[in-house]
Amino acid sequence: MADRPTIIYLWGFMGSGKSFLGKQLASALHIPFVDLDEYIENHHKKTIAEIFDEVGEQAFRKWETDALHECSKVLLSYTEKGRAGLNYAGVVSCGGGTPCFHDNIHFMKAQGRTVWLNPPLDVLVLRLQKERAHRPLIADITPDTLTEFISERLNQRSPYYRQADLIISPAEHVDEILNGL
Ligand code: S3P
Repeated sequence: MADRPTIIYLWGFMGSGKSFLGKQLASALHIPFVDLDEYIENHHKKTIAEIFDEVGEQAFRKWETDALHECSKVLLSYTEKGRAGLNYAGVVSCGGGTPCFHDNIHFMKAQGRTVWLNPPLDVLVLRLQKERAHRPLIADITPDTLTEFISERLNQRSPYYRQADLIISPAEHVDEILNGL
């Protein structure tokens, strides 16, 4: 483990279970959990869908980077002040695109440990089919082209995701738990 407090950043495509597993991980380690999308929504008082709609993806990516820096700073300062000696400062569940824009990947790798949650493609498709409406990037994709869209996007993003310190491919039984069984 690192000498100074470090942050665990969870990466992965939409629907890979980052928030669910992040909460479990943070609770097991007794450290704070931050969902980056929620952080952005609270800060700007808008949903992610509204942000994409009103200011567009480019502005969203800038706000996402700002949020990443801000929440990392808060987690580290809190740990240094109140809980010195603790190795992990917090768990941050990133948005699916966070490691792929600006210099976020290098920032995260310098601040902490990075984990890519990489479930099989069909698991992502199953989950995202149910949630298209809330996700601006796939809201307009028709069900019959969803698999192709996810597969292409995943291929584009894999070179970034692959740089994670740890890669986990959640097994099917984990998926059942994630779906609330
Ligand atoms: C995005 C993923 C979303 C959210 C935004 C963009 C992406 O986060 O940040 O809609 O580019 O993959 P989740 O992966 O948490 O759904």
